[in-house]
Amino acid sequence: MSIAADHDRVGLTWQTGVWDQIAQIYLREIDRLAAPLIAHVIARAALHAGQQVLDLGTGTGAAAIQAAPLVAPGGQVLGVDISPAMLTLAQQRVADLGLTNVTLREGRAEALPAPDGAFDVLLASLSLMYVLDRVAAAREIARVLRPGGRFVAAVWAGAEECDVVLLQQTAARFAPPPPVPGVGPGVLADATPFLAQLAAVGIQARVERETVVYDFEHFAAAWDVLAGVTAAQLTPERQAEAKAAVLAAMWPHGDGPRRFHNVTQFIIGQQRP
Ligand SMILES: C[S@@+](CC[C@H](N)C(=O)[O-])C[C@H]1O[C@@H](n2cnc3c(N)ncnc32)[C@H](O)[C@@H]1O
Repeated sequence: MSIAADHDRVGLTWQTGVWDQIAQIYLREIDRLAAPLIAHVIARAALHAGQQVLDLGTGTGAAAIQAAPLVAPGGQVLGVDISPAMLTLAQQRVADLGLTNVTLREGRAEALPAPDGAFDVLLASLSLMYVLDRVAAAREIARVLRPGGRFVAAVWAGAEECDVVLLQQTAARFAPPPPVPGVGPGVLADATPFLAQLAAVGIQARVERETVVYDFEHFAAAWDVLAGVTAAQLTPERQAEAKAAVLAAMWPHGDGPRRFHNVTQFIIGQQRP
């Protein structure tokens, strides 16, 4: 196996493991917090009946579930994710809601399990920041979109404008570096390189920004949701240091309710007609 292929395999195994571990807390806590952000994605997708939609990095299926009734009758939604645990939860939600036009499939952005030109719209809510090879992902997005097809993604801004990123990056300073570089919540804060990668494959895109808020009752609630799983691997001493750093940076006047202001960048593009 080449070094690049080995690096990719290690990175994918690591990413999948992280998301598998987070799946339950994502469904229980983050889905609710992220609902306004998903609504922004869906509004920008301008969906209508009969459309074929791919939800890339569908997670627990939040965007796919919102999209499904909007493209009925006649339209279908395919949710793709690397994490079997996320997909299991998404499948359960789809079944509970009785949605018949959503299919979920294991797969990755860099090699989408879908035919050429099959989709009118491709959604990617908070997933592209974690993709190991975004050049390959851009190529795949262009491949599966029909000419003139629409692309809507959401990515976080940088830590100075986005509290979710500030908390996660502050905590991450106390953890070992991830096994692959270039992935994480703040990596698309400057979206310009990714816009150029999209343009190179025929997708002209622009960025719109909105602030979405996440309300937490106290520090521990935010920590558990946003850093709990990844920090679990730290020694108790290291974890205490990480918590102290986050408290100092984000609760300078002491513990209590805190509103997270999260500037979110919506990347809106169209495949060459
Ligand atoms: C922050 S969650 C977002 C989930 C969902 N789109 C939402 O907005 O609630 C990121 C998701 O991207 C998935 N993901 C990470 N890397 C991926 C890749 N290369 N291809 C497909 N999905 C990926 C993760 O497994 C995870 O479910």
